[in-house]
Amino acid sequence: MDVAHVWHPFTQMKEHQLSPPVPVIRGEGADLVLQGGRRVLDGVSSWWTCVHGHGHPQLVDALTRQAATLDHVLFAGFTHEPALELTARLLRRLPPSLTRCFFSDNGSTAVEVALKMTFQAQFLRGERQRTKIGALRHAYHGDTLGAVGVGDLGNFMTAIFRPLLLGCERLAVPDDPRREVGAGTSEVILEEARDALQAYFAEHGATLAAFIAEPLVQGAGGMRMWPPELLHDLRRACDAHGVYLVFDEVMTGFGRTGSFFACVEAGVAPDVLCLSKGLTGGVLPLAVTCTTDALFDLFWGEPGDPRAFLHGHSYTANPIACAVAAASLALFDETPVLERARVLAERLRASWTRLANHPAVRRSRCLGAIAACNLVDPRTGGPRTNLACDGLAIHREALQRGLLVRPIGDCLYLMPPLSTPLDRIDEAVDTLVRCLDLLDDR
Ligand SMILES: Cc1ncc(COP(=O)(O)O)c(C=O)c1O
Repeated sequence: MDVAHVWHPFTQMKEHQLSPPVPVIRGEGADLVLQGGRRVLDGVSSWWTCVHGHGHPQLVDALTRQAATLDHVLFAGFTHEPALELTARLLRRLPPSLTRCFFSDNGSTAVEVALKMTFQAQFLRGERQRTKIGALRHAYHGDTLGAVGVGDLGNFMTAIFRPLLLGCERLAVPDDPRREVGAGTSEVILEEARDALQAYFAEHGATLAAFIAEPLVQGAGGMRMWPPELLHDLRRACDAHGVYLVFDEVMTGFGRTGSFFACVEAGVAPDVLCLSKGLTGGVLPLAVTCTTDALFDLFWGEPGDPRAFLHGHSYTANPIACAVAAASLALFDETPVLERARVLAERLRASWTRLANHPAVRRSRCLGAIAACNLVDPRTGGPRTNLACDGLAIHREALQRGLLVRPIGDCLYLMPPLSTPLDRIDEAVDTLVRCLDLLDDR
């Protein structure tokens, strides 16, 4: 049935003729249980969503109770307790300048909302020449057309849609070598990057409505960890040039980088913040785009005033998703999730040094509960020639050995749920070392 009738995401479906999708029957803590009973550690938190582990009893309880009370209601002209409780809990965690929450369904729509919101805000300010968005090289912000327009994965997936995409000016930022583990950690060179940032804003600042960035780590671009100092420079440059600063924390939010939000860790408040994935602990789709009073006030007017933000989705602020998200934030508020995540991060870093010494690996790095490295040819130390096959081979071998990983190009990474038992981290790194040994013995 699956191979005959279902179309999977990011997949060349012909591959499934030889190797059908793997049936998963249950999720338990950090594990997925496959058909037949084999358990695998969810080493990528099911696309970076799962925070507290699968099937967490408090989240299951919140979901079932809310489903039996109010499953859904339109959010235009109506409101409900789960959305209000979630908003109140979020406000306690957000930088204090972010006071308004606009709900949608997933990471891409959180970004679409941010792009439209900032563009319209500039329009309402009379800044009609601001018709472009600024973004980073190697950015990824989702798969809807607006989000693809600000993304820069440079592959076929993005390139063919070029005629449909909005105007975007790119800024390159360097990797932060201070995140590297093992010997040879070097000084970060910031001066050049700072000059490039100034030059970029001098050239494009007057035509940008907003600048969007994934703070501290660019996820799908290859777990690129970049210097927090440049976030401060971005903030100053956006202020100086009248550009809204948007942070996309769809991946980095909810404890992944060690703090609740990467922007809090870096000490930089954006004008707009996009959240999704870990918002519900990874249980249901939901997103929030948060902004300031100053931006919100531009849309304020008499009834019928066309200044209103005319955007919305049928399932905006779905009560079940909001109740689960509120329960997930309650876990952060009432149990030591972040403290536990810091212990996990230390163990991951210590374990990852074993991988750092492998000849097929370069630039092993960690930030919070994210560990990454780049695959190289062990004979030359240069690029590997068949990354797509190598990635698939590592994925398949690791799965056989009880670990789910999905390399992105030459980037091999682990991002397990924050609740993962520490000994499972050591096991996962051992498995990856073994997979790399086998890769070059093939
Ligand atoms: C930083 C970032 N923004 C946006 C998205 C898009 O989220 P979604 O897949 O929920 O649309 C992703 C997805 O990986 C992401 O990593």
